[in-house]
Amino acid sequence: MDSGEIIAKCLAAGKEAADMVRARFGQRHNVSHKGATDLVTEVDVAVEARLRESLGSIFPDAVFVGEESQRDGWNIPASGYCWVVDPVDGTTNFAHDIPLTAISIALCRDGLPVLGIVEAPMLKETYHASRGGGAFLNGAPIEVSKAASLVDCLVCTGFPYEFGANLEGIIARLRAVLPASQGLRRLGAAALDLAWLACGRLDIFYEDGLKPWDMAAGWLLVEEAGGRLSDFYGAPLRFGGSLLASNGHAHEAMTRLLRQSAQ
Ligand code: IPD
Ligand code: CA
Repeated sequence: MDSGEIIAKCLAAGKEAADMVRARFGQRHNVSHKGATDLVTEVDVAVEARLRESLGSIFPDAVFVGEESQRDGWNIPASGYCWVVDPVDGTTNFAHDIPLTAISIALCRDGLPVLGIVEAPMLKETYHASRGGGAFLNGAPIEVSKAASLVDCLVCTGFPYEFGANLEGIIARLRAVLPASQGLRRLGAAALDLAWLACGRLDIFYEDGLKPWDMAAGWLLVEEAGGRLSDFYGAPLRFGGSLLASNGHAHEAMTRLLRQSAQ
């Protein structure tokens, strides 16, 4: 199979999953709890099971890492191929009938994303990127914004389910970013936040404690749309660390602000 054929098959798998989520949006759900506020619905489980099958038939040798089957920890292999899937990113939004919900599908090779798809079923938006092949929204090329000063940047963030010792850090960052930026959003689906950064709607996104399935596809979308990613302080991005993504122009200023907020 050539890469065009693989992308087309993955897009078809993503579309099928998006149809499943859209068909169940706004209905009554069986909600159970993974933690006090970390929800899972029957749709998360059904969509992940279907993607495991459909993606598995495209690349049978790839390991499958999905949010609902990896509850006891995750491992993205440093060599070989691996699917990294969030069947419903923004589950809390979904359970509250808020349409900011996404499906995130990434194929990683040797630990890095080489193909990324973010479906936003209720918005009828499909984002995809392949390494070296650019980033697209519903088939049209996308690129990051041009805002350079923090005061011109609309910033987005998210919060983990378990605050623990992290609460002070989260508040210190909010205290620094709110007065320095054009505004701050918490939309509730990290994959969609990264896709919206890739297409220029947002200028900066940061969050600590994301899981690989929240960030793998969006990581590639942002890179291929011309943006930049690192940890909060400018070191190379890795699964399991903090994440700062930007249009590139405002990256240094944001790392400085985040460093100051930690002092
Ligand atoms: C969550 C969302 C949210 C982010 C959380 C994630 P889920 O994923 O992406 O925006 O702030 O850290 O866990 O649980 O809705 O798939
Ligand atoms: Ca999820």
